[in-house]
Amino acid sequence: MVRAFLFCFALLVAFYNVESRKPVVCYYASWSTYRPGRGQFNVENIDPFLCTHLIYAFFGVNDSGAVTILDPWLDLDSGRGNIRLFNQLRNQNPNLKTLAAIGGATVDRVIFSQIAASASLRSTFARNARDFCLAHGFDGVDLGWEFPAMHDGDTAPYDKRNFVLMLSELALALRSHGLLLTAALAASETIASISYDIAGIVPHLDFINLMAYDYNGAWSNFTGHNAPLFAGPSDQNDFQRTLNVQHSINYWLSQGAPASKLVLGVPAYGRTFTLANSAVNGLRAPAEGPGQPGPYTGQYGYIAYHEVCGHLSSATGWYRVWEPIQKIPYTFSNNQWIGYDDRQSIWEKCNYANSQQLAGMMMWSIDMDDFRGNCGTSFTLLKTVNECLV
Ligand SMILES: *[C@@H]1O[C@H](CO)[C@@H](O)[C@H](O)[C@H]1NC(C)=O
Ligand SMILES: *[C@@H]1O[C@H](CO)[C@@H](O)[C@H](O)[C@H]1NC(C)=O
Repeated sequence: MVRAFLFCFALLVAFYNVESRKPVVCYYASWSTYRPGRGQFNVENIDPFLCTHLIYAFFGVNDSGAVTILDPWLDLDSGRGNIRLFNQLRNQNPNLKTLAAIGGATVDRVIFSQIAASASLRSTFARNARDFCLAHGFDGVDLGWEFPAMHDGDTAPYDKRNFVLMLSELALALRSHGLLLTAALAASETIASISYDIAGIVPHLDFINLMAYDYNGAWSNFTGHNAPLFAGPSDQNDFQRTLNVQHSINYWLSQGAPASKLVLGVPAYGRTFTLANSAVNGLRAPAEGPGQPGPYTGQYGYIAYHEVCGHLSSATGWYRVWEPIQKIPYTFSNNQWIGYDDRQSIWEKCNYANSQQLAGMMMWSIDMDDFRGNCGTSFTLLKTVNECLV
């Protein structure tokens, strides 16, 4: 009797654990294989148990509505067979879902606009996206059009309507084969209000990966944090007070997006600045341009979390400051300034996602997390998300 009870209890617990796992959506930037030395990241560096959904970035589109391979040598079996290795991670974790990210910042947004505007191209693209998943073994598509109605100074308001039609067509083609459809969408009200008919797109998506970052960067002539959770005392006007996660989530909810479909994206990277005056080094301090490149990502204005950790642990004059209202850290050394996320800020965002009963969390991108322990601990940002999300 007791044994039967315990058995039922164990079953219940097992069932509950599987059923209750919220989405932890992980983007994998396939080009991270080209980073030098300790920055190099490959499929074998992915822990398939820390993500529920793994997204391979990126694939392209062309103007006949075909899904295109951007790096044949890396992606295909004629080269390194990276797509196959990626999808084989499901042999280790059969609950894992893999998706193909089509788009991204480098894909020509005019092509998306043209496909979305034509009924025949929309259906060709949807069929091609479905066939691409079936041919390569993906469980679905994550659409990354950055961003509708934002190309070339032309506000193209028709993009907003056509995007709904495009998603509708994709959902139809994918769902008939049991495949998923998600999209990476701009969280900020500034972009979202131009690009999306939120109530129109929601029904077509299994969930929405909200890119709740890039709120501030070296395009401004003052410092600002990449992804503040809340507005803070350094925000100087109404616009600046919209540049945070809380404002974005409230906006999406107010436009009719159900919390149960919103996946809160967090960055495993920071945005960097060169200060105009090393002695003035807070938030909204005058800046002269982007900060110096990191040793592995090599881009001005942008730095991986594992690179920031390298700075902080080398103890050569980098100071970490915790902003207690916005719940984010920044760090500076001489004229270099970095607004980034760490375990503490990710924990705060995760608590926020829990409190708002959001669907789950997403990370861009796991190859910039501290996967080699540069922070002096094996506790990555992704593990923090897994531990906190309930
Ligand atoms: C688009 O890509 C497909 C598949 O790679 C190719 O067959 C087709 O010719 C391409 N179309 C254009 C216009 O480039
Ligand atoms: C920053 O840029 C704005 C306009 O983009 C300009 O009005 C302002 O004077 C600039 N501030 C500094 C310190 O250069």
